[in-house]
Amino acid sequence: MTEPLLRVSNLVKTFPVRGGVLAGAKEQVHAIDDISFDIGAGETLGLVGESGCGKSTTGRCILRLIEPTSGKVWFEGRSVTEIDGKALGALRRDMQIIFQDPFASLNPRMTVGAIIGEALINPNYG
Ligand SMILES: Nc1ncnc2c1ncn2[C@@H]1O[C@H](COP(=O)(O)OP(=O)(O)OP(=O)(O)O)[C@@H](O)[C@H]1O
Ligand SMILES: [Mg+2]
Repeated sequence: MTEPLLRVSNLVKTFPVRGGVLAGAKEQVHAIDDISFDIGAGETLGLVGESGCGKSTTGRCILRLIEPTSGKVWFEGRSVTEIDGKALGALRRDMQIIFQDPFASLNPRMTVGAIIGEALINPNYG
């Protein structure tokens, strides 16, 4: 079997909560709680969920824009979570985030139905 393009294994990211009700208590937000998946070459994975469920945090951890609390990531067989400096810089030339920008990607003059429908309408059958 060929290795996946991207492998995410038991990824966890917690953030400390500041100003909690219990003074001094170290409460944590579990932004990502043990997720694992593979993406093969040519495959597309959609990560869908409510706001705050950890989608962006997952992307940031995969690229090491933020440090995962635990877990491992491999890209093209190279360990993303165990490299630093130059090697990480080289890897970032092959992996990128396209940050969400609804004003650039969604036309405010169109309805949601028209925006989604546009991609489904075959001009040959107008
Ligand atoms: N730097 C941070 N410090 C503390 N908490 C954070 C930080 N970044 C994210 N969180 C928390 O982690 C959780 C996951 O956030 P994340 O931004 O990954 O969600 P999301 O799925 O991308 O949401 P959206 O659909 O709104 O973009 C949320 O509870 C968020 O408040
Ligand atoms: Mg997000």
